[in-house]
Amino acid sequence: PRPILLTRHGESRDNVRGRIGGDSFLSEAGELYSKKLANFVEKRLKAERAASIWTSTLQRTILTASPIAGFPKIQWRALDEINAGVCDGMTYEEIKKNMPEEYESRKKDKLRYRYPRGESYLDVIQRLEPVIIELERQRAPVVVISHQAVLRALYSYFADRPLKEIPHIEVPLHTIIEIQMGVTGVQEKRYKLMD
Ligand code: G3H
Repeated sequence: PRPILLTRHGESRDNVRGRIGGDSFLSEAGELYSKKLANFVEKRLKAERAASIWTSTLQRTILTASPIAGFPKIQWRALDEINAGVCDGMTYEEIKKNMPEEYESRKKDKLRYRYPRGESYLDVIQRLEPVIIELERQRAPVVVISHQAVLRALYSYFADRPLKEIPHIEVPLHTIIEIQMGVTGVQEKRYKLMD
């Protein structure tokens, strides 16, 4: 069995400000996580010469991967965060105040709700299909550094969780979820590298 390591990017400056979307850099805590992650990955995958690191095309995942040495890095647009369309860059408070109908419809059906000029969770799940096919095809370990909404969808696929749960799954920051696929099914371990 070979592991798939899933992690969100280190805390971003927009995370600190409570803003969704965007393309911000890492906070100090996020930078610290990138170093701890590099340490962990280099030890955990030391003997795995064919392993690779997959990121999205957004700065916060690329910067989180940057201290990791010794493995090829691949950027996937399909790993980018859910596109919040007209709400990109807003806080949830601002959405609630300025676009109350949007806020309410998302609350009612978070899986199907599509941001105006953006995406729904169902859209994200669909665009992840080529990533999942490629992950299944890989024989070597893969480290996936992506975003909360995307990782909810990827995680649910491997952990076999129902569609309706996907938008509500906790994927904490600064934590690695290791998935092992063996003959007896899927095993999961979590490594919390910092608070
Ligand atoms: O920036 C977007 C978040 O990572 C996704 O969170 O779908 O719970 O609003 P949400």
